[in-house]
Amino acid sequence: MVVAKNNSSLSKSPTSSRHPLDPLTFEEINLSSSLVKEQAHLGIELLFETIMLIEPPKSEVITFLPGDPITRDVFVVVLNYKTERLYELEISLDLKKITRCEHIPGVQPAFMFGDINMDFNEWEAHIKKDPKLIEALKKRGITDASLVMIDPWPISNFGNKEEEGKRLAIGRCWVRREDGDNGYARPIEGLSPILDLNKNKIVEIQDFGVVPIPPEDGNYAARYQSTFRTDLKPIEITQPEGPSFQVNGTEVCWQKWRLRVGYTKREGLVLHTIGYEDGGEVRPIIYRAALSEMVVPYGDPTNDHYKKQVFDAGEVGIGRCANSLELGCDCLGEIYYFDMALFNIQGDATELKNVVCMHEEDYGILWKHTDNRIGETETRRSRRLVISTVATVGNYEYGFFWYFYQDGGIDYEVKLTGIVNSAAVDPGVEPKNGTLVAPQVVAHNHQHYFNVRLDMMVDGQNNSVYEVDTVTDPISDNNPHGNAFSVKRTLIEKEEEAVRIIDPFSARYWSVTNNSKQNYLGQPVSYKIAPGENVLPFHHDEAVIMKRAAFMTGHMWVTAFDEKEMFAAGDYPNQHPGNDGLPSWMKKNRALTDTDVVVWYTFGHNHIPRLEDWPVMPVAYTGFSIRPSGFFDRNPALDVPPSVINCCGESVCACSH
Ligand code: CO
Repeated sequence: MVVAKNNSSLSKSPTSSRHPLDPLTFEEINLSSSLVKEQAHLGIELLFETIMLIEPPKSEVITFLPGDPITRDVFVVVLNYKTERLYELEISLDLKKITRCEHIPGVQPAFMFGDINMDFNEWEAHIKKDPKLIEALKKRGITDASLVMIDPWPISNFGNKEEEGKRLAIGRCWVRREDGDNGYARPIEGLSPILDLNKNKIVEIQDFGVVPIPPEDGNYAARYQSTFRTDLKPIEITQPEGPSFQVNGTEVCWQKWRLRVGYTKREGLVLHTIGYEDGGEVRPIIYRAALSEMVVPYGDPTNDHYKKQVFDAGEVGIGRCANSLELGCDCLGEIYYFDMALFNIQGDATELKNVVCMHEEDYGILWKHTDNRIGETETRRSRRLVISTVATVGNYEYGFFWYFYQDGGIDYEVKLTGIVNSAAVDPGVEPKNGTLVAPQVVAHNHQHYFNVRLDMMVDGQNNSVYEVDTVTDPISDNNPHGNAFSVKRTLIEKEEEAVRIIDPFSARYWSVTNNSKQNYLGQPVSYKIAPGENVLPFHHDEAVIMKRAAFMTGHMWVTAFDEKEMFAAGDYPNQHPGNDGLPSWMKKNRALTDTDVVVWYTFGHNHIPRLEDWPVMPVAYTGFSIRPSGFFDRNPALDVPPSVINCCGESVCACSH
């Protein structure tokens, strides 16, 4: 049974019961854009790239008590697409006043399509009327442009002088065989219109030569399947007494966990003030956690495929691409949905219904032991709290999942699905840098990198980060048999040392430690960050993407907290030449010992496409773990009660005495 509950409090006016970190409401977004339109005098041709809460200083948030006054300040980025000038603004909603308005030269905003009267579909229809495009399509035997799909892709930055100062995109084209079939099965190879997004027109048709349109359908929709397997019996997840979490506004309480749910257009899901109740107090662990950037660089050198390197957060806005999870197929069980308010490019508030999904899952065994001598088994079932969103970016889907466990553990997982990006080759061609997934259809080798910014707060704001390796002890008088191995902890003292990579053969992890708080054995308390699947880029060091997405070149980055440092590839990655964000901040070489640190974990998924990824890709999973490591005095889940159901058949069992 799927129960949709809407959190309507998000769209109500601010009241004293609200929290300083609550995402902007519908009304606050509309007020912000109208203040810009009325007071800033930046012209009427304004497109809104960002409207987001300026989070109050941590000190205010941490000491906040319900009913305290809150200040609501908003950060706005707008582009005047006629004058091609981009502005950053800060607004005090309390004073209804613009407090900063600054022209930012030399950068491009994230993707926005259309103008003050045009949405994306109207924009695409408008582009498809260009006679140059119609002519190029005709060369390929395509006379019905209504079946053509143009996906705008970032143009990257290869130092091309004519592109400087222009807001451009590359149109990548496919054609459906009929309305509603999978257009990605038929790439229109070699046809790349260059789009001027300020002028809403094609400036140039790049034609790399005609390649035949691949012949076969690649349909996955139910209506195209002739048979379905018939041996599936129903599974029902029921929670007759409801879920075990409580929601108050954006605050979530689940057993001993406490956290807040937020959302931005750029990052999507944001979690705040994550803590765990222990001995009657909530002990903080993470102040703020969110995807800071992601990039998908491709590995094919032909035509202009080498320019495929999309930053889906900073260039596209992964939060804006999120699905409404209303249909009930994304999550199973007793679901709580959060609605969020975002905005369209005209600055009008829009509602993302059911965009964040929260539910509990049974997760197998939490812990277990059988004492054979007395014939007694103690087993506890694990349950996890799942908070997630799913975004569609063109052909691809990304699910972003946070999992909270009863033993104090946290996992972050990205689920990758959707349709692999497709290109076409001539019949008989065996591509070197990709996989032929259907006749004449190639899916290029690529990688997906994600960087998660974790503003750590392990039992307080002042933390230190240690790299922890397991090492072989030398043979000595103390280790005459050579069996000894031990742990080597290395403090990461300065930012210049704080670009680290995984080392699976040292079982490497990173420990975020509060040296001023001890567990009951007198050791400083820690949480550790442990890698899951990971990889490094296979691009040459000289490749453009290595500068533009330098955050791929290290897995663990540590910085001293600065509220302005939010995004791993910088504030404006679109068409940016690179080295902004993490690589530039590290040069400050700030001290990292017993101070307010931020850790940035990068993980990559290497995608050599398989035939089984076509025509729609089964979910691939990637992520990492955050685990208590001497944070608690013992297993914090001893107090999880035995299951009430008899779980153990004939033997003597703790849950059926
Ligand atoms: Co992929």
